[in-house]
Amino acid sequence: MARDFKTVGVVGLGTMGAGIAEVLARNGLHVFGVEMDAVSLNRGRAHVAHSTRRAVAKGKLSPEDAAALLDRITFTAELTDLAEADLVIEAIPERLELKRSLFQRLDAICRDETVFATNTSSLSVTEISVATSRPGRVVGIHFFNPAPVMKLVEIVRTVVTEPDVLADVEALAARLGKSPVVIGDKAGFIANALLFGYLNHAATMYEARYATREDIDAAMRLGCGLPMGPLTLLDLIGLDTAYEILDTMYKQSRDRLHAPAPILKQMKTAGLLGRKSGRGFYTYEQPGVPTVV
Ligand code: 3HC
Repeated sequence: MARDFKTVGVVGLGTMGAGIAEVLARNGLHVFGVEMDAVSLNRGRAHVAHSTRRAVAKGKLSPEDAAALLDRITFTAELTDLAEADLVIEAIPERLELKRSLFQRLDAICRDETVFATNTSSLSVTEISVATSRPGRVVGIHFFNPAPVMKLVEIVRTVVTEPDVLADVEALAARLGKSPVVIGDKAGFIANALLFGYLNHAATMYEARYATREDIDAAMRLGCGLPMGPLTLLDLIGLDTAYEILDTMYKQSRDRLHAPAPILKQMKTAGLLGRKSGRGFYTYEQPGVPTVV
């Protein structure tokens, strides 16, 4: 019988995790949003509140539905609150050892039937899954930024993912109003594998002073009909995240297309992370405030 995911844990409430928590709560699921400390919890809560206020202001959500959505999210710093969750989605930073150790802890806390999902954008789901005693019930669920808006969800299956788990996660994605695609466990999956060579090339062009940031972005928006230029998109994704994704893909494939442009590492090291830090290729008025596009 298909699993009915009712209670979902989301661990990590950064840009992606907060967006994922919002999508789940908007569709009637009860969410436990977990962060490691009060500051991060407040940032996650502010992100969701900001996004729902914006939906109310646009007439997309009634004030009552926005309040009900927020009520469906329990913000907590305790992983043990996930003991009864049907599904846990991890959205912590892109470091394999961090993710493996989180899932090891969750393995001891959650029920045997609980499905574990990682929102990793480029790490190996297989390597994450074998840190648990249930590799067959571990999948990738990769959302796109901004999660409440973008329709795609990549569902990553490993060689041991149980077929019914895959089917149930696909059904959940559809319930969330997303279009799932299912793929194997290869760095970058489909979308990032195709997208990041292009973004990296744009950063290299900018670094070589080949053209201004505005002209690089305008060329792709106005010439190719993309919603955002590549440097604006890198700022939205976050330059730390973009660097990690490129680095992982490069290490796996050794394809020079994905060798991170040096400027990305320099900007990451200097704390120029894009929208979330207030400065990246462009500057933003309110650092730390959730993405306003
Ligand atoms: N949170 C919630 N809703 C948001 C939002 C956010 N951060 N940003 C925009 N929106 C909503 C708006 O409220 C609006 O909703 P409505 O249609 O119901 O009124 C809708 O999105 C469109 O927004 P705007 O009219 O303000 O602006 P745009 O038309 O320019 O759209 C955009 C904004 C959807 C972000 C668009 O510019 C876009 O699609 N950009 C490309 C994004 C992209 O490529 N994402 C993928 C990145 S790669 C990735 O995430 C993978 C990961 O592994 C790194």
